[in-house]
Amino acid sequence: MSKVGYYARKPLPLEMHKICIVQKTEIIPVEERVKAIRKAGFNTYRMESKDIYLDMLTDSGVNAMTNEQLGAMMLGDDCYAGSKTYFRLAEKIKEIFNKDYFLPIHQGRACEHMLALAYVQPKPGSIVPMNFQFGTSVGKIKYCGGDYVICLKEEGFNKQSTDLFKGDFDLEKLERVLKEQGSNIAFVRIESGTNLIGGQPISLDNMLAVSELCKKYGVLSVLDASLLQDNLHFIKTRENKYKECSIREIVRTLSNAMDIIYFSARKLGFGRGGAIILNDEKQYEYIKTFVASFEGFPTFGGMSVKEMEAIRVGLDDTMDEDIIAQGPQFIEYLANELEAAGIPVVTPPGGLGCHIDAMKFLPHIKHGQYPAGSLASAIYIASGARGMERGAIDEPWEDDEVEPYGAMELVRLAVPRRVYTVSQINYLVDRLCWLRDNKDLIGGLHFEKKGPHQFYDALESNSDWPEKLAAKFREDFGDSL
Ligand SMILES: Cc1ncc(COP(=O)(O)O)c(C=O)c1O
Repeated sequence: MSKVGYYARKPLPLEMHKICIVQKTEIIPVEERVKAIRKAGFNTYRMESKDIYLDMLTDSGVNAMTNEQLGAMMLGDDCYAGSKTYFRLAEKIKEIFNKDYFLPIHQGRACEHMLALAYVQPKPGSIVPMNFQFGTSVGKIKYCGGDYVICLKEEGFNKQSTDLFKGDFDLEKLERVLKEQGSNIAFVRIESGTNLIGGQPISLDNMLAVSELCKKYGVLSVLDASLLQDNLHFIKTRENKYKECSIREIVRTLSNAMDIIYFSARKLGFGRGGAIILNDEKQYEYIKTFVASFEGFPTFGGMSVKEMEAIRVGLDDTMDEDIIAQGPQFIEYLANELEAAGIPVVTPPGGLGCHIDAMKFLPHIKHGQYPAGSLASAIYIASGARGMERGAIDEPWEDDEVEPYGAMELVRLAVPRRVYTVSQINYLVDRLCWLRDNKDLIGGLHFEKKGPHQFYDALESNSDWPEKLAAKFREDFGDSL
């Protein structure tokens, strides 16, 4: 797509596929949408798919598969131990990542569980430095008695920026932590496509420098490659030094530098599942004992062989520049359209999805009234699109008495790969423009129950603002959905 120029029309993201199978969706009337979000406790996690037009909650496990993936699923060799499927996937992983040992694991957070059991639990109080936290990663580290230190460079926290690699480590800070903590370090976690700061990439040079520091201080480097796909596109297009390299060469260079790589195949590889891959036989045998106890026999590790075959084919797609460019280009298009319409988004556009800055969009809604949750609900009312709150509702409580506020109050509009078309994105931009002009009608939320809450708990609106917003929609749009 990046190589396709336009003559008379404004460039649009160009799909590099044709659609073979489709699923019908519908837009329910705005009054029904208010009832649906109310029933879901103003929490988009609690919604029913039947009420949603554009499901932009996540890109996890919901990317469209190719006909080749679906075909490959029929080759799955269902067998408890030693299936042909395992060896086929192991061979593909060796080809791409140049690592000898592979453990299939049922999803990304289960990989994190295995790694925490293997490296954190034996050393209570040990530390995992990382560029940024991710809920499932730090959850397992803490559960196993460890803690984490964020080493993101300062600019990474800046929501509106021109820095092309906001996911980079502050290398000085990392070195300081490695020096101070010495043998107390369990491993260093390097998150590609840094999720919680808006899917922001980390540069290959920065990851290589982190790996060098790990070698210098004798600690394991562990790459979370769940969001590597978009990150590869950004290395290729934003990091001059590597623009002549193929995606395969970039992956090889990165992989050779890392001791352990794990990923959620719900994201990387267009499938559902996960894997830990490494070169050290002793470490492999050690982690394998946990996989056998918690996941399944180590040739399927809790995954279905059908999914393993789909990942095998999906990993090849991940090495195809045309295919992996499409997600970031759709996100960039959406972010640019919104920014041009005066809607505050995280910049530069990253991977995963477009992130709207709720504090700026709704300055009249204060932290304690959940601006990102309110905006996610209002977006659904205005459009039938479901985004994800990325703010205080989502933030885990460390202390039962003190409500945590996230560093950012964002609404993420994830863009699952090959699922939605440009016209659907344009529809969404239109509805967000309407919301921009009616934002004063949007009010805040509160939790139904006091005290520590979970990201999937129910909230209530502080007034009848959802009904008023829907009435204004009806007034402006007449009979339109
Ligand atoms: C960076 C990162 N790591 C780990 C995970 C966990 O993966 P899974 O959802 O497969 O458990 C995710 C999921 O969103 C992720 O984005």
